[in-house]
Amino acid sequence: MASLGVNIDHIANVRQARRTVEPDPVPFAMLAELGGADGITVHLREDRRHIQDRDVTLLRETVRSRLNLEMAATEEMLSIALKLGPDMVTLVPERREEVTTEGGLDVVSQLEKMTSSVHRLQDAGIPVSLFVDPDERQLQACQRSGARWVELHTGAYAEASWSAQPQELARLIEGCCMARQLGLRVNSGHGLTYQNVEPVAAIEGMEELNIGHSIVARALAVGLQQAVREMKALVQNPRLDPLFGQVSG
Ligand code: PXP
Repeated sequence: MASLGVNIDHIANVRQARRTVEPDPVPFAMLAELGGADGITVHLREDRRHIQDRDVTLLRETVRSRLNLEMAATEEMLSIALKLGPDMVTLVPERREEVTTEGGLDVVSQLEKMTSSVHRLQDAGIPVSLFVDPDERQLQACQRSGARWVELHTGAYAEASWSAQPQELARLIEGCCMARQLGLRVNSGHGLTYQNVEPVAAIEGMEELNIGHSIVARALAVGLQQAVREMKALVQNPRLDPLFGQVSG
């Protein structure tokens, strides 16, 4: 049975839209764990557009499940990860212009750099996963890098038309099988939703699914009525506030 890693970047996205203190992703990680998350995933991006350094520091102290840090293989990020000691690092490609991670890593053309990053992290006791498309050459390069895990990019499957989806699912099934034959352990994620997750969760050997956007979107849907109800109660029945007394007095 696959486990669930919950990506909470979008909580921080809402906070950063106002550059304020709420919503704070740290307590939301606890709520995700209460809901059954087997792990918490955050992506510390070079431009700090959502998750901030303080978030990862606090999450390291408070996450009781597993903390998976997604990051680019840069010197800055490697030194943060080595200091932080997350339960796993997932290396991802990163471009400043992209809205979210767009493709898998090209491990084939960056084998030397990836191998060095993987070894630096693994030598410090941090397991490393490489985020790649379900492609034979990439998976072979992952094995050569010394990484023990891969995360298969499910974006092509998630975005495929209804008629093309079976073919993309077959690529994921083959990719998972191939990775395991190479001795790699397999996670997957990106673009998974309540509608498309089941066939991926059912792939034999799939260990963990990392899901963010769809869960946060659903949380807004199931939580909005209650949030409005609470605000309306305050607007309609304001308590006599000492602050109000000071202003009018
Ligand atoms: N896995 C990786 C490597 C990602 O970069 C992301 C997006 O940050 C996810 C999983 C989660 O994707 P989504 O938000 O579409 O569920």
